[in-house]
Amino acid sequence: MYNRKLLLLVALVAIPFAAPRIVEAAQPSVAPVIDDEDTPLQEAMQVLKKGQRSLKKLIKDPAANEAELLTTLASMESAILTALAEDTPHPDGMSGKDLALFKVGYKGGMVTLFQHVLALEEAALNQDAEALKVAYDELSSQKKSGHEHFRDF
Ligand code: HEM
Repeated sequence: MYNRKLLLLVALVAIPFAAPRIVEAAQPSVAPVIDDEDTPLQEAMQVLKKGQRSLKKLIKDPAANEAELLTTLASMESAILTALAEDTPHPDGMSGKDLALFKVGYKGGMVTLFQHVLALEEAALNQDAEALKVAYDELSSQKKSGHEHFRDF
């Protein structure tokens, strides 16, 4: 009898600790996995990646996708502004004027990317599929050149 009461007491005390874990375990995992280790620059790049992927599909039908195109482009503009304000990684040992020039180059690369996004925005507002394709291709090559110079050194 004493043992049963003790067991009941232990169970009652344990419920507030165990319940949240049980509820959590029962939830389907729908939230994206956020990597706490990512820097603001890396997070901005992830937004650009998602945006570029969406654009690839959306530009095929600018009339039907105008609203979504504009939302996507706005998210990319905001990501570029974040990236522009962040310090970029640089080659080990680089310092002084070389480093200053490297940073100027990086910022210039970001500004050029921004211009391509603006061209995409203008083309989206004009529902101009051809101009969208041209600006999309320019965005893609700017990404390649940005990574060659400033990421893969
Ligand atoms: C649409 C264009 C672009 C896309 C989709 C893109 C995408 C990405 C992605 C997915 C990463 C990896 C992020 C991570 O580690 O989680 C990255 C890293 C990086 N990108 Fe871009 N990028 C673009 C344009 C650019 C441009 C124009 C530049 C330079 C001017 C640039 C510079 C960098 C740098 C420096 C990193 C390394 C960041 C770090 O690890 O700290 N990217 N980018």
